[in-house]
Formats: sequence, structure tokens, C-alpha cells
Amino acid sequence: MVEIKSLVKTYKTGDEEVRAIDDISLNIKQGEIVAISGASGSGKTTLLNLIGTLDNITSGDIIINEHSIASMNEKEKTNYRKLNLGFIFQSYNLIPVLSALENVELAFQPLSKQELAEIGISDTKLAAKEALKAVGLEGYEERRPGQLSGGQQQRVSIARAIVRKPKILLADEPTANLDSKNSLLILALLSKLSHENKITVIYSSHDQEVLKNVERVIILKDGKLVEDKKC
Ligand SMILES: Nc1ncnc2c1ncn2[C@@H]1O[C@H](COP(=O)(O)OP(=O)(O)OP(=O)(O)O)[C@@H](O)[C@H]1O
Ligand SMILES: [Mg+2]
Repeated sequence: MVEIKSLVKTYKTGDEEVRAIDDISLNIKQGEIVAISGASGSGKTTLLNLIGTLDNITSGDIIINEHSIASMNEKEKTNYRKLNLGFIFQSYNLIPVLSALENVELAFQPLSKQELAEIGISDTKLAAKEALKAVGLEGYEERRPGQLSGGQQQRVSIARAIVRKPKILLADEPTANLDSKNSLLILALLSKLSHENKITVIYSSHDQEVLKNVERVIILKDGKLVEDKKC
């Protein structure tokens, strides 16, 4: 359902041109969980940003459920993101003055009544509560981010990412700020969400410990795909 075709992304800085993604082709099935690995600067974040329509494709294309990202305009990309994608970041990106529940509920703010109906949400507060429960944070609804551990904050951010029922979850280094125990718990959670809800999960990591438990790992080097391994 995610088809990456001869994908190229170049950045120009002054006279220099960097091929951050250099002719990558691969397919990812609906419900699959895939890790992207490789050294610093190998193109992991760039690839996730291209799949997430946060950056423009130089050439080639990414086809998601028959939608060509290369041919979408900005408005179409925004709509696409709202209804299909969930994002998780290394730094959680939670709002410190809001409770866990309010942080999750905020994910609904960009949606119109009609869009909420389209994804089957009638009560946003209840949906946010259920998402927190799904990530194991029942009872923590009223805590602010500063009153939660790093692992718990990342769970809130995962709840925020899944509450709109995305088809694809994109996570750039989701465990980079966590110790190995919490990293493995977060990955187990992502794997559970992926299997139970048929969400495609694509995440990046350069942590060898994290990469021991993956189902499929794609390794990048200088923007090129050097290995695609099913484990
Ligand atoms: N906005 C930009 N402008 C210019 N060059 C960029 C830009 N973003 C990324 N690059 C370059 O593209 C290449 C890939 O960067 P990217 O951030 O995707 O790597 P990464 O694998 O995520 O690295 P890290 O593990 O350090 O996060 C690097 O050479 C980087 O310097
Ligand atoms: Mg990166």
C-alpha cells in the first residue's frame, strides 16, 4: 500500500547538491511494521518526511493507496495528512500546560465536524480517553507532561498520533530519548497497535538494541537502500 518508486530527494546548499535520497524503490504492505536504519546523515528523516508529505519529492514518486504524493498540491497534502497519517517525534512535542487528555484531544482540532464523522468520531474527549487507555495510560489523563516520565510522555504522543485512526504511523527516532527498557516497551506497543489495528508503522532508529526485535529493517547508506531484510 506504500509504493516508493525511484525516489530521489536532493538538497541544494550554495553550490553543493546533496542527494539525501538516491533512487530508492520499495513496497510496504498495509499493517506492516518496518524499521529504517543507517548511520547519521544516511537519509532516514528525509525518507520519513517524504512519506509524510512534509517535504517535496525531487523525482520519482510515493504512491499511497493509489494516491500519488508527487502530484498532490499543498492543500491536498494537508488533507491527506489529516485523514491518513499519524506522526511521532523523538522529542514527544507535547504542550506542557495541557493535561495528557487535552494533548491527545488536540489532534482533533484541525478536523471539521464532517471529517470527524468520516472517521467515526462523535465524542472527541471519549476518543482521547480510549487512545490513552490503548497505550496503557488509563488513570493518567489529568497529568501534565512534566508530571510524566519520558516513556509515559512518548505514550501520550503515540495516543495523540493514533487517535484519528491513521492508516500509517510515521515515527522518527521514537526511542532516542529513552533508556533501553522503555525503548523496548514503546516498540512492543507500536507492534501491538500495528497488528491489532492494521496500521502500517514506519519508524527510524540507529539503536542496535532496538533493531534486534524488528520484523523488517531497511538499511540506508548515503541515501541509497543497501539492505531490505525480513527478520
Ligand atoms: N534541509 C536540508 N538542507 C540541506 N541538506 C539537508 C537538509 N536536510 C537534510 N539534509 C542532508 O541530507 C542528508 C540526509 O539527512 P537526514 O536528516 O535524512 O539523515 P538521518 O539519517 O535522519 O540522520 P540522523 O541519524 O543524524 O538523524 C544529510 O547529508 C543531511 O545533511
Ligand atoms: Mg534523522
